[in-house]
Amino acid sequence: NRCRVCFLFLPLSLGPSTTRAYSSQTGQMEPKGVLITGCDTGFGFSLAKHLHNKGFTVFAGCLLKDKGSDGVNQLDNLKSERLKTVQLNVCEDEEVEAAVQFVQGNLKDPEKGLWGVVNNAGISTFGEVEFTSMETYKEVAEVNLWGTVRVTKAFLPLIRRAKGRVVNITSMLGRMANPARSPYCVTKFGVEAFSDCLRYEMHRWGIKVSIVEPGNFIAATSLYSPERIKVIAEKMWSDLPEVVRNDYGKKYFDEQIAKMHSYCNSGATDTSPVIDDVTHALTAPSPYTRYHPMDYYWWLRMQIITHMPAAISDRIYIY
Ligand SMILES: NC(=O)c1ccc[n+]([C@@H]2O[C@H](COP(=O)([O-])OP(=O)(O)OC[C@H]3O[C@@H](n4cnc5c(N)ncnc54)[C@H](OP(=O)(O)O)[C@@H]3O)[C@@H](O)[C@H]2O)c1
Repeated sequence: NRCRVCFLFLPLSLGPSTTRAYSSQTGQMEPKGVLITGCDTGFGFSLAKHLHNKGFTVFAGCLLKDKGSDGVNQLDNLKSERLKTVQLNVCEDEEVEAAVQFVQGNLKDPEKGLWGVVNNAGISTFGEVEFTSMETYKEVAEVNLWGTVRVTKAFLPLIRRAKGRVVNITSMLGRMANPARSPYCVTKFGVEAFSDCLRYEMHRWGIKVSIVEPGNFIAATSLYSPERIKVIAEKMWSDLPEVVRNDYGKKYFDEQIAKMHSYCNSGATDTSPVIDDVTHALTAPSPYTRYHPMDYYWWLRMQIITHMPAAISDRIYIY
């Protein structure tokens, strides 16, 4: 019990010094072309600007390019030959194929291929298994998992030519599961498996595949907002089968939503650890297989959950 209490209070006891050292040293290689998905907001938006500043030619895939989102306008306003936004819904075959054509047509030397693809686009939701509809499971998987597979497959011929890099953004929830996060976890665990298979297969082509597993940066991006949680919760409750609603009860349901609200208020606000890790994965001569931009609390929790017997880690963190 003493051990359990110690782990539970670790994030508080370490206080502000919970920031881990990250992979800040990036390689000095000749900047090349990179396509990033999901650049309207969040990590994708910051990454597009950061890589452009480092001299890369950036193809910023944006879900709302055709609707002129804030992110698209800001990127377009840079008016740089080396930063081009491109309409890209990762769920649509035609848009992905058009993006390949666009990139190919805008590369200085298409014969040399494209250096990198960063699969960043993603959506998230929450809810216990019995609260989550099949429609929701499929909706999240369509973007996070099948979108990553679709984009990767489409760009691999160009990446192969450059002996380049594939960087997939998963999550700490792609390594350790959490109650009430199954619709998200299954997709991120899926991308981890896909990335490992791809790494084995691409070795012979000289392509390196890295996975970046961010911790909680909710406060810094648009993945969740209190309004979004409210909307999801209301729909979830109204769609629940009668038997589930009665068995769990509204009090329990509301407690879980309150937990989600407090989780979302607890994230880091500085995204630079994630941006630096993706940059390292794209530029270092020997990039890591996995990057863990997260604070000490989540890092330790991930190590314990992935390496210790479940009988122990479940007691420390879950029950
Ligand atoms: N923030 C965190 O704490 C955290 C932690 C671990 C992992 N991640 C992962 O990091 C990645 C980026 O998320 P973020 O935190 O930066 O959240 P974000 O600000 O919501 O960024 C995700 C981006 O993906 C776009 N997108 C959604 N559906 C898409 C689709 N079908 N096709 C193309 N783009 C689509 C979104 O566009 P709209 O804004 O127009 O919907 C948004 O611009 C995600 O894969 C997420 O799972 C985030």
